[in-house]
Amino acid sequence: MNLKLWLLLLFFCAVIVPAQLKKHKHDEHDKHAERDRHGERDRHGHNDKHGKSGKHPGKRVKGRLEELKAEFDNTDDTDDDDDPNDWLFELQDLKGKCSPNPCLNGGVCEEKRDKFRCKCPKQFVGRRCQRGKKVCKPGTCGTGLCLLTSSPPYYKCKCIPPFAPPTCKTPAPCAPNPCQNNGRCVSDEGDFKCVCPAGFSGQYCQVDPNDCYEGDGQSYRGKVSETEEGDECLDWNSNFILDRGYFPSTGFASSEGLGPHNFCRNPDGDKKPWCFVKKNKRLRWDHCNVRKCPTPATTTQKIVTTTTKAQPTTAAFTPKATTLQPTIPAKTDASITPESTSSAQITPESTGSAQITPESTSSAQITPTPPPQVRPTNANVTRSFLTCGKPQPKKQLNRIYGGLKAIPGAHPWQVSVQIKPKGSVQGYRHICGGTLIKPCWVLTAAHCIDKKHDYSVVLGGLNLVQKEPTDQTVLVEDTIIHEKYKETPDVVYNDIALLKLKATNGECAKETQFVKAACLPKEPFADGTECSISGWGATETSEYGSMHLLDAQVLLISQEACSSNKVYAALLDGGMFCAGYLKGGVDSCQGDSGGPLTCEKDQIHYVYGIVSWGDSCGEKNKPGVYTRVIKYLDWINEKTAGSQ
Ligand code: ARG
Repeated sequence: MNLKLWLLLLFFCAVIVPAQLKKHKHDEHDKHAERDRHGERDRHGHNDKHGKSGKHPGKRVKGRLEELKAEFDNTDDTDDDDDPNDWLFELQDLKGKCSPNPCLNGGVCEEKRDKFRCKCPKQFVGRRCQRGKKVCKPGTCGTGLCLLTSSPPYYKCKCIPPFAPPTCKTPAPCAPNPCQNNGRCVSDEGDFKCVCPAGFSGQYCQVDPNDCYEGDGQSYRGKVSETEEGDECLDWNSNFILDRGYFPSTGFASSEGLGPHNFCRNPDGDKKPWCFVKKNKRLRWDHCNVRKCPTPATTTQKIVTTTTKAQPTTAAFTPKATTLQPTIPAKTDASITPESTSSAQITPESTGSAQITPESTSSAQITPTPPPQVRPTNANVTRSFLTCGKPQPKKQLNRIYGGLKAIPGAHPWQVSVQIKPKGSVQGYRHICGGTLIKPCWVLTAAHCIDKKHDYSVVLGGLNLVQKEPTDQTVLVEDTIIHEKYKETPDVVYNDIALLKLKATNGECAKETQFVKAACLPKEPFADGTECSISGWGATETSEYGSMHLLDAQVLLISQEACSSNKVYAALLDGGMFCAGYLKGGVDSCQGDSGGPLTCEKDQIHYVYGIVSWGDSCGEKNKPGVYTRVIKYLDWINEKTAGSQ
């Protein structure tokens, strides 16, 4: 250990430990937050659906006040990033270069020897500018919301009626009158109620009689600010959202319609307007209690005839989960219904050109595609797969809490490796992930393969239980397991295998916007690089896996740090590396095995790791272990040589 680290440790003992002891109560809370972050890979968060704080008809008025206080009194709010180990782990992460830029939210990276430093825009802090400025301190806004603003003092308090300004601490029903549109405010046991003029609705009578959304509600600019569950929406610029790493103003495909208000919106191609809510002190989202505009008679027919996709009704999945479709309409054209765009996008002929969204046109990554209506023939198949590692995601970012749902086309090399008992007539079922590296070759983990099963792969899909128009199912002709693959109770060595796909009419995978090959790495990536993992594996709340493709960002962890006694000690060999967060949280898990860990350089994505093993999932000091693909390049090239 070097001198600096010792000094820091000394400092830790002298200053931070006593402080941490005082903070014990807060840490208890943090642990919950931490567990919750692990749940980010579960996008649903629906155990809250009937959570304690949901509004129920006939609830006593006093109950609502107590609930508001419990939910919004920020005096005991803790800093999510306050993990006492953070600084130590981040110190390790600080090694590394400015390329790719490790600084988030517009931070400018400066390199000094082997370290980087981020210069953050004013509102952001953190080593990677990952957090909004801590202007919203515990108690700043009492029972209210702390809203971030872009000018000093960079925040504003918004009291939730009946709690009144300036402190938002004491209820003062009807003073001032929170009811809009001439609503009458009635005070009731310390709370208030608005009696709205005919046709007006909403807790503050803010919703006028014509308030409704069209299509999927992307153009909705109405004033409903309540969820289907009856919870009040958080303002889009609420510190509570921003502090958890979600930046609605830059994070969604369209920030139009978002602003310093709490009205329901649909900025990310969901099926209807939604908003963030605070539930049990956690950030959640829910669809809104907003009315769909009556459909003009002329378009009814169209919608009926073009709706081809049945929505799954499985009770285990939340409505939100069902909204992830590979056919999200272009954001700027409010007149396009989800139904009409989906039908326009489902044919293989339309690949690429017919599907380019405003977002994807701005990138220089569009590969030439056959003109629409021309079915790819064997002759032009040879022209496809000319490039690797260049996704054409439909949107820039679609991170919403309670889920990091993969964007259609963001991981076009991701495959679902599926099995059935050898020779049986049973259907295939998902067992592992894999990565398409050539039209007829999939890279996966050796521990996913045995001789008792037949294998097939599904490419281009996001939803495992629904047949999607973008899906391509291809049988596996041959499985090749690394000759030195070995399994012990703790570790798997040389966990790498290749699946040779079976060609039909001379072609295996067909390149589309949703099916592309990842590149094999050429050079190592630096420790601390942020890379991406994806898969249908287990999440904190769905131990059998997710029906939707999920993704997450993980950091490459140095071999040294990962081989420390607290972590995996002597278990790792040179064919493995760790990625994730030593403090726990985001991780791959059962069912993700074989799938890709990709790292990006100059806008090209390289399959740098294969999900292999780990001690549980998301636990502190137990990050995911990945097969170090770069060590096996010769093996891969040798096996796949001479075949497309
Ligand atoms: N072996 C697991 C699988 O078969 C993957 C485990 C990954 N574990 C982890 N903590 N990252 O799906």
